[in-house]
Amino acid sequence: MTTKTSMHIDPYERTWMIVSVVLLLVFLTAVSVAGFAMGIQLPNPERRVDPQTVATDPDSPWYKDNVGLRELAPGKYEAYILAQAWQFTPNEITVPAGSRITFYVTSRDLQHGFKLENTNVNMMIIPGQVSKLSVTLDTPGEYNFICHEYCGTGHAIMFGKVIVTP
Ligand code: CUA
Repeated sequence: MTTKTSMHIDPYERTWMIVSVVLLLVFLTAVSVAGFAMGIQLPNPERRVDPQTVATDPDSPWYKDNVGLRELAPGKYEAYILAQAWQFTPNEITVPAGSRITFYVTSRDLQHGFKLENTNVNMMIIPGQVSKLSVTLDTPGEYNFICHEYCGTGHAIMFGKVIVTP
């Protein structure tokens, strides 16, 4: 004598199981397309620094004349930017169109923000951490960057710009 066991799944439940699997696949596809096809990245906590010395240590990339733009190869730049209440240093950089810039931004005092208009560059700037993000600027023009984390009375005047020349 044999006993036959079968698992009964209600059609309603089965439908929702299928829907949830399909949804997971849709989300996975959306994340993959955004990350790999469209190049959308998340800000990368690059490394830690000491906010007390980040602007006073002569070896620091954020010390006085060390900050700013460096050309690594034709059309390939890195920009070290220091945020502090209430300014960015430098607050203006110029690159030719088609350049790829990697930003390394840190703060020596408060929490700030760094958002470069019309791009995916949008980072929180936290004392002690270096925020890193890259962007390729193909269209000539002026791209303002602003502090978009409220940081006190001077918050509204904390901005700068990237000039992209033809
Ligand atoms: Cu710095 Cu708002």
